[in-house]
This record gives sequence, structure tokens and C-alpha cells, in this order.
Amino acid sequence: MADRYLTFTGTAPGRLLTRRLGLPQPAALKRWSPQRPALEGDRLLLTAGKSELEPADTGLDLTASAEKPGAVLLDATGVRDVETLAEVHAALQPVVRSVAESGRIVVLGAPLDAADHHQAAVQQALEGFTRSLGKEIGRGRTVNLVRLTDARAAGPTLRFLLSPRSAYVSGQVIEVGAYDESGAPADPDRPLTGRTALVTGAARGIGEAVVETLARDGARVVVLDVPQAEQDALRVADRLGGTALALDITAPDAGERIAAALPDGLDVLVHNAGITRDRRLVNMPAERWSSVLDVNLASVLRTTDALLESGTLRRGGRIVATASIAGLAGNAGQTNYGASKAGIVGLVRALAPRALAEHGVTVNAVAPGFIETRMTAAIPLFIREAGRRMNSLAQGGLPVDVAETTAWLAHPGSGAVNGQVVRVCGQSLLGA
Ligand SMILES: NC(=O)c1ccc[n+]([C@@H]2O[C@H](COP(=O)([O-])OP(=O)(O)OC[C@H]3O[C@@H](n4cnc5c(N)ncnc54)[C@H](O)[C@@H]3O)[C@@H](O)[C@H]2O)c1
Repeated sequence: MADRYLTFTGTAPGRLLTRRLGLPQPAALKRWSPQRPALEGDRLLLTAGKSELEPADTGLDLTASAEKPGAVLLDATGVRDVETLAEVHAALQPVVRSVAESGRIVVLGAPLDAADHHQAAVQQALEGFTRSLGKEIGRGRTVNLVRLTDARAAGPTLRFLLSPRSAYVSGQVIEVGAYDESGAPADPDRPLTGRTALVTGAARGIGEAVVETLARDGARVVVLDVPQAEQDALRVADRLGGTALALDITAPDAGERIAAALPDGLDVLVHNAGITRDRRLVNMPAERWSSVLDVNLASVLRTTDALLESGTLRRGGRIVATASIAGLAGNAGQTNYGASKAGIVGLVRALAPRALAEHGVTVNAVAPGFIETRMTAAIPLFIREAGRRMNSLAQGGLPVDVAETTAWLAHPGSGAVNGQVVRVCGQSLLGA
């Protein structure tokens, strides 16, 4: 379902009318394409406080001054008290206006120091700062916060956040852990070369975009979907030089069947398959509850366990599960869906440290907001229109936005990103 309002506000009369009426003014987002692999403009580096970080270790080209920066990286890791917090204001306030359309601001923060409540207070303050700036900055620009201790570990994360690939990711706080040098890919343009990625529910919608993006990055892809969608799955797999696997993920032995289909192992597992069966709790039969919980959560738990225990998921592997804004904020008519998606968050947080320690596998989740797919096209007009506009970018995301976020988490260099739930929601007003 095309976003006609976005098209209309892109015209001169549309801009004039919507400005007069005080209506939202969504900017056409500049997403990644082979013709636009990077943002236009320089990447400006600013510092607040006394930083011990080596920004050069990120491997990014950064400059100390730029007239119209495409991206701004503010190193605020050295902010330890309210006085140095003022340097955040001093550094960014003069340049904010000059940041290009669809530009990026990334604030670098430090982990909160439990032994120093002044440091913890001002580092937490950076969250409120980042989210507030994201809500007011406009013109397709995004603002995110990355907490880190070692700039070397943050390379792939910053390359993603400071690129057109993260067009619909804003207002996020992402923690980057310890550096692991084993992750550098041989071919940075096709970082998943030699890796196998399986995506559930990949015959259409977000899953289809995920396999396309992982194949673009060099992965051999396996397109899993229900037997009824086998023709679509085959079509997608053929186009990408991958294989299709017709399997209902709720089958009790789904994990074993995936393992049998992949005797050489698996590197990237994306739990994307999901369903909705909306009804308010007072009218919800048990069957609607159990079918949603089974597809969205129980099968994710079962197949994850089976593929980790069988060793099918190799060391250096990546699991990316799919949560939802509805699981974070709740949504009327979706007690079943909200429960299943919040369950994904619990799974990710609890399993991530153990899966990394025992299997060398990271576990993260994407939490999409309003994404333009068949699932959201089925929402009644006025609720759909509200869902689209209720975010800082005043528009719905595209399946490719979730796919790009998944590709960053699946990157061999993203081993320091673990246990994170990253919203792909244009900074939705829900649950923010
Ligand atoms: N579209 C959005 O705005 C949005 C928002 C938040 C979260 N999500 C989540 O993103 C994921 C993809 O959503 P979408 O909008 O692309 O949905 P979609 O309905 O377009 O696609 C889902 C795919 O999953 C497959 N599937 C369903 N049950 C399955 C099963 N038992 N076994 C194997 N495959 C199965 C379907 O056949 C379909 O191809 C879901 O987990 C959804 O909950 C979507």
C-alpha cells in the first residue's frame, strides 16, 4: 500500500498546504542503493569531556571541521559530571542546523559506572538528550547513542549507523561490548561471503527483504516458509541463487529438520516468521492465543535450542530474532502478539551471554515499528494512517530497513553486539 501522503508532501503544493495546516512533513528518506552507498558530506568528529577513546580505531574517515556534514560523531565517553555534560550542548548546538538532510548524529557514551553516581547520572542523561534531539531534528535525520569502551569493537556498528542503511533507525541506545579481532571479513563489500543464512518466513514481506540483503552481502541463503508458500519461496530462492525449505516452523521437530537440511552447518539464523490473530482479550478464544504464541515464540525457543545443541550453528554464528514495538509498548487487541514479542526480548537478553560464552554465537533482536507490508496493509485506514505518522520520521518503514539492520547484526564483525534489541521504528512514539 503506497504512502500517498508522503508522495503528496513531496510536491510543492503539498508542502505548502501541509505546512499551513501544521500537518506532519515527512522527508523522503535517502536509503542505500548501489548508486548511493554512502551519505553525502563529511563525517564530523566532535568531543565533549576528556575522552580516552581512540576514534581513529573505528576505521572511519572522520574530520575535525565540515561546513555541511553528512554525519556527526560526538564522543561523549569522557562526560563524567554536569559541567562536562554542558560540553555536549556546546559541541552540537552550533552544528545541528548544518547537518545535511537524511544526515546522521551518533553520540558515543560510556557504560554507566555503578561506583560513581555522578558519571552514571550524566551518561544516562545522554539517553534523554539523544531521544529528545531525535524527536525534534526533522528532515529525515536520525540520532542514536552507542555505549562502548573500545572504539575498535564499534566499527561495523558505526559504519551502519553513519550510512544510508540505517535510514529508519533513530532514538536507539546500542551497547557494544569487548573487541574480538576474529570478525574482520575478507571482503568488506560482501562480508557474508562463505556464510550460510537461513531466514524463516522469507517467501514474502520483511523476510524476503532480509534474504535479499543477506544475499547481496554474499551469504548463501535458505528461504524457509510454510508448505503453502513453497512456490513463492522457490521463486525468491531461485532469484538469489539460494535454496528453499518448505517447513512449518511450529513442527515439533523443525529444528532437527533444519539441521538435517544443512549438514555443513549454519552461520546466520533469522527468526522472522510471525503471525497476528488480533482480538481483545475478552473475545479471544484459546486457539488464537496459542497459534500466535506457537509461531512467534515457542517455535523460536525450540529451533534455537535444537540448532545450538546440535552444533548446526557454527562458532561466530549470529541469531537475529524478531520482536515488535507491540511487544515493548503493548497494543490493544494484541495481548497474544504483544506477549509473544515481549517473550522474544526476554529470550534474547537471557540467552545472549550464555550463547556467546558456550557457542560463540551472538543473539540479538530487531523490533520493527510500522513497516509497509501485507501485514500492515490489512490494518483499517485511519489506524494505519496514525501508525505511519506516529514516529519522528512521520512515515512507515520499508522491509529493507529491517533487512539492513539484520545484516549489520549478522556481520562477522558485529561479535561485540550481543543481547541488544534494536528498534527499527523511525523512533515510534509508542513505548519510547
Ligand atoms: N510489518 C510490520 O509492520 C511488523 C511490525 C513489527 C513486527 N513485525 C514482525 O516481522 C516479521 C515479518 O512480518 P511481515 O510483515 O513480513 O509478515 P508477513 O505476514 O508479510 O510475512 C510472514 C511470513 O511468515 C510466514 N510464516 C507464518 N507462519 C509460519 C510458520 N509457522 N512457519 C514458517 N513460516 C511461517 C508466512 O507464510 C509469511 O511468508 C513477523 O515476525 C512480524 O511479527 C512486522
